[in-house]
Amino acid sequence: MAIERTFSILKPDATRRNLTGKINAVFEAAGLRIVAQKRIHMTRAQAEAFYGVHKERGFFNDLVTFMTSGPVVVQVLEGENAVAKHREVMGATNPANAAEGTVRKLFAESIEANSVHGSDSLENAAIEIAYFFAGTEIVG
Ligand code: PPS
Repeated sequence: MAIERTFSILKPDATRRNLTGKINAVFEAAGLRIVAQKRIHMTRAQAEAFYGVHKERGFFNDLVTFMTSGPVVVQVLEGENAVAKHREVMGATNPANAAEGTVRKLFAESIEANSVHGSDSLENAAIEIAYFFAGTEIVG
């Protein structure tokens, strides 16, 4: 299986409740290695551009407001089949539908405050990683 890199965000509800270590422990237990990580407070312009693909959706404004409501931790995770593995351990977008043991089942508060973001494809992972990280900040 191929070694991949994916992009991850620990969202404001996770930083507010001091859960970043607990969530990282779930990722690491699944075989994902944190090869870059930084804590930032996204600007509204940054969040709007990052989520631009969703701009026609009814929740867009709420999503941008939430993602700029506090600090986040942006990450690059590396491992075998990392994109799919990360999405599996995150669980369903809505925590009400998330499987036992997933990050969203364990920690998410709602479909908005759902603790984590993960890239949905290898192609988007590369775009999202490049949006937040310089190559020199990623140390595998
Ligand atoms: S997915 O995984 O892309 O299919 O999920 P999707 O349902 O399309 O949601 C895309 C992102 O929008 C967030 N979301 C919401 N935010 C606020 N309010 C509501 N109702 C809502 N519904 C979905 C969802 O958490 C996804 O955020 P990211 O950061 O991509 O995980």
